[in-house]
Amino acid sequence: MFTNDTLEGRAALITGGGSGIGLEIATAYARLGASVMLVGRNEERVQAAASAIVAEGGRALALKADVRNYDEVKAAVDATVEGFGSLDILVNNAAGNFVCPTADLSPRGWQTVIDIDLNGTFYGCHAAYSHLKESRYGGSIISIITMLGVSGWPQAAHAAAAKGGILSLSRTLAVEWGGDNIRVNTISPGPIGDTEGVQRMYIEGGRGELEQKKTALGRFGKKEDIANAAVYLASSLGAYVTGENLIVDGGRWLKYVAA
Ligand code: HXC
Repeated sequence: MFTNDTLEGRAALITGGGSGIGLEIATAYARLGASVMLVGRNEERVQAAASAIVAEGGRALALKADVRNYDEVKAAVDATVEGFGSLDILVNNAAGNFVCPTADLSPRGWQTVIDIDLNGTFYGCHAAYSHLKESRYGGSIISIITMLGVSGWPQAAHAAAAKGGILSLSRTLAVEWGGDNIRVNTISPGPIGDTEGVQRMYIEGGRGELEQKKTALGRFGKKEDIANAAVYLASSLGAYVTGENLIVDGGRWLKYVAA
């Protein structure tokens, strides 16, 4: 169990923070003392999410931004520093995805997902760097990927390539920016049952039971499983952890390899 001051004093920016895993992470961070900036394309959604956090006593702001646009990402970073006085934690969570056989995938469809996932993550890291370097706790970047970016992801080549790219980018930055006391890690969630992505890509397609059986634990994970990992990596509990990919997938990856 984390204590209420685990993230006290820190400011965090979470992309895709208005719903799903991003909102779960933001809510957990706020409960543990962090100030959170929620960024997303849907202004109403991020504003409502920030209001809910404030209503339960947290410190939260929201800003409309599309991670495909560097200037908007930069503006969100600047607004975080202006609102809270620092930027200590960046969570690159925003993602786009859809199922499509690669032979049918249009170049624009490919580019759309690469732009959101891979380029959006790079934009966040690049825009945040100078502020993370100044963090008195040491900066922390956490990007949400998936081991399907390592194994390959049939019917989702765009997302597989993007997530694999984020893993490589993160390891690169962990080494480049370690001397600036910035830690750079990724989290690889398995199938998280209470998310829009799993609902749309697995459950609605009738593959819910199959996907649960693919995990060693035989069940979907919960958003809070990912939020707990994100708290650990952002906090001083993970102070010596960098360049790591924390797999939180109920043993899905291992079962795949061991089979
Ligand atoms: C084939 C598709 C398609 C589909 C879009 N495209 N959906 N092609 N099958 N189902 C193509 C379009 O035809 C178009 O190419 C191009 O992609 C851009 O589509 P737009 O709709 O114009 O893009 P945009 O409005 O920007 O939407 C982005 C999006 C969308 C990614 C396509 O799905 C989205 O915004 N999703 C919300 C976020 C999201 O997906 N979250 C889930 C992440 S979950 P053409 O050539 O026709 O112009 C996740 C992990 C899942 O990542 C883990 C477990 C399953």
